[in-house]
Amino acid sequence: MPPAAGLVPVRASVWGTIKSRFLRDRTKGAMQPLLSLGVFCLLPVALTLGEGSPQSPRKSVPYHSDNALQFREEGVFNYSTMLLREDLGLLVLGAREAVFALNLSDISQKHSSIKWEVAAKKVKECEDKGKDRETECKNYIRILHTMKNGRMYVCGTNAFDPECGYLDYKNESLTFEETKKDGKGKCPFDPFQRHASVMVDDQLYSATSMNFLGSEPILIRSDQMRTEFKSSWLYEPNFVSMTLVPEGQHSKDGDDDKVYLFFSETAVEFDSYSKVVVPRVARVCKGDRGGERTLQTKWTSFLKTRIDCPVLNSKLPYLIQDSYLWCDATLNWESCVFFAVFTPQLESSDLSAVCAYKMSDISKVFSQGKYKTPVSVETSYVKWVMYNGRVPVPRPGACINNEARNLGIKESRYLPDQTLQFIKDRPLLDQAVEPIEGRPLLLRRGASFTRIVVDQVQAADGHKYHVMFIATEKGTMLKAVNSGKETFNIEEVEIFQPPQPIKIVTLSNAKGQIYAGADSGAAQIPLASCERSSSCVDCVLARDPYCGWDSTEEKCVSVSSSPRKLIQSVTEGDASLCTGSASVKSVGLSGRPGDKLQLSCLSPSNLGKGRWERRGKVFASSPRLQILPDELVILNATADDSGHYRCSSVEHSEAGEFTTAVVDYEVRIESPGSGNDSLTPATRAQTDCPSVAGLRAAVALLVIGLTALLAWIFYEAYPSLPWTKKSQTRRIYEEEAAQTTARSEQAESKLMMSEAHNSNSNNN
Ligand SMILES: *[C@@H]1O[C@H](CO)[C@@H](O)[C@H](O)[C@H]1NC(C)=O
Ligand SMILES: *[C@@H]1O[C@H](CO)[C@@H](O)[C@H](O)[C@H]1NC(C)=O
Ligand SMILES: *[C@@H]1O[C@H](CO)[C@@H](O)[C@H](O)[C@H]1NC(C)=O
Repeated sequence: MPPAAGLVPVRASVWGTIKSRFLRDRTKGAMQPLLSLGVFCLLPVALTLGEGSPQSPRKSVPYHSDNALQFREEGVFNYSTMLLREDLGLLVLGAREAVFALNLSDISQKHSSIKWEVAAKKVKECEDKGKDRETECKNYIRILHTMKNGRMYVCGTNAFDPECGYLDYKNESLTFEETKKDGKGKCPFDPFQRHASVMVDDQLYSATSMNFLGSEPILIRSDQMRTEFKSSWLYEPNFVSMTLVPEGQHSKDGDDDKVYLFFSETAVEFDSYSKVVVPRVARVCKGDRGGERTLQTKWTSFLKTRIDCPVLNSKLPYLIQDSYLWCDATLNWESCVFFAVFTPQLESSDLSAVCAYKMSDISKVFSQGKYKTPVSVETSYVKWVMYNGRVPVPRPGACINNEARNLGIKESRYLPDQTLQFIKDRPLLDQAVEPIEGRPLLLRRGASFTRIVVDQVQAADGHKYHVMFIATEKGTMLKAVNSGKETFNIEEVEIFQPPQPIKIVTLSNAKGQIYAGADSGAAQIPLASCERSSSCVDCVLARDPYCGWDSTEEKCVSVSSSPRKLIQSVTEGDASLCTGSASVKSVGLSGRPGDKLQLSCLSPSNLGKGRWERRGKVFASSPRLQILPDELVILNATADDSGHYRCSSVEHSEAGEFTTAVVDYEVRIESPGSGNDSLTPATRAQTDCPSVAGLRAAVALLVIGLTALLAWIFYEAYPSLPWTKKSQTRRIYEEEAAQTTARSEQAESKLMMSEAHNSNSNNN
């Protein structure tokens, strides 16, 4: 079809503006057959999908050695345990069979390292038990904590026979002290099993599996206080993270500090033929000493509940992968916020979410929520429902507080049997913890989220913003700012090559640095790399609260280190504050008539659209001057193509549309004689269509009409041909595909709004 051939470049240019990779991927299946038929009916839909999708990061920064400082050591893998020693200026890094002491300011500088290999006899035993010699029968460092006296507590899986010991850093070197001890109930046996631990007052709280098979999950403290082996307490859990919350500090009620545990487990409370896994938060009190007869050396304060991160249209709950407790040092614990990353439990979706929970909301559920209780239905079947009966006093699962003390109960051992029996049978609460505003702060398609850390920064406007750093399965770090009313994805930076899951992320507030660990090494990135923006418009549209434009220096600089007033607009991205024109890189390019010229133009932003001007006038793609996503291709050049070309990036923010010049080209086509045809295709396009958007709309409409007309003519002319029947079925397929795309667009916008979800009716 000759007319279609003429439209090809337009298609390419429009399509090229859709930068978000996931959108391209998900529509590709539907688009390819359509494109090959030259049908453009879907383009308007595709355009709305592609433009300004909040899920795509504004900048995608591909791997470069400048992105991060790296640490790796030949032959050492699995850098997945970290300990910040800001007091010593060290990052202590645990890997497979080795611990490293690295310079906290620059982790590529190694100060010391110590090997911890498995004894040959142990490897043999491990192998004899059917484990893999090269992977499982190694020693993976899993626990690293600081003791009060400055020593470090370290545990390793030690070929499915965990051991723990003490490490010291003296005279600039790491040394093991004393002999190592059994690490059972502290460290997992299986290096592929997740676990969580925290050190509080030199007592290790550990959530792991107690046995070789990994079938005895437990939350245990080093004084042997532990959970019951009952499925109502822990049911095939996957432990994620653990944190101390100092709720006892300055508590009016004489409350106790608590340790919170995040995990996911098989739900006992759902009626379902297949197992449903749910995300949970549980907690125990620091002062818990267990009961006297009932719950002897068992937690009297182990309470758990569901933690929701509702993603619209998802039937199964999303599962928690990591949590980070953010606290304002000047306020008390109630103002703390847990940020957590969630991924779907079936691989059917590639969405990930971030939800945030107020500490005060979590605490309220635990201190006031109703319990769930098991009831037998039809003899063999147990259903968990809300408990409406009398609740004993003191409240089951509560810490010893002033109320209990007034009743003469100074310790958990003196709790009445009724309270203890109640909590032993009913550790699960009825009410789930809901996120702030009842919905995710951030939803994104693409590489699954693995870990999160959060910083708060004061921007130039005096306001404080939460900035989330989210690690992914593909070795990238996503940076997003929450402006209160929305979350904006500033950038996604590739920090590991080849792409691999990031297993751990740590933030040092003192150094303003983030450390990430993966199988091949560890990386260090600063909180901000303002120099990635080279123009004022780009710097302001980035909406990065750490960065602002210094109009004196003409640089995008860090807000905290600049003495001058900077241009910044975190909430709106108002680049109209930028004055003066930016200096633009200028490139000379010469060729001969008939040449193919490629003028590359990389937009600084995924949200920006390229715009080409020639001799000061905007032009659109044409068969000979093809505008592709990252370049302009001039085919079969003529002398008339000589002249000045400028590529700009046009980007929308809440404050309007802003244009930044990206690159200038001075093109010279040298030829002895040239035709004087002033109406080249390019200039014609200009006169026809004053704006790119107008052109697109016009072309899309034209094409719809044209296609319909052609189809109609064809059908009328050859109604009986089998081929036309086929084309008819094809058309139906096209329509279906169009509907699918429209539907996914609807789903998309719903996701963005992500309204309050309908709470699960299985609950009661
Ligand atoms: C350790 O790293 C190796 C090499 O990348 C990887 O194949 C293996 O799965 C990792 N093991 C664990 C327990 O993560
Ligand atoms: C750590 O690195 C920083 C920055 O490179 C350097 O100034 C400092 O001296 C190093 N510290 C030690 C103990 O070597
Ligand atoms: C510290 O190390 C230095 C050089 O390695 C050594 O001469 C010195 O004796 C060590 N000091 C102690 C207390 O071990």
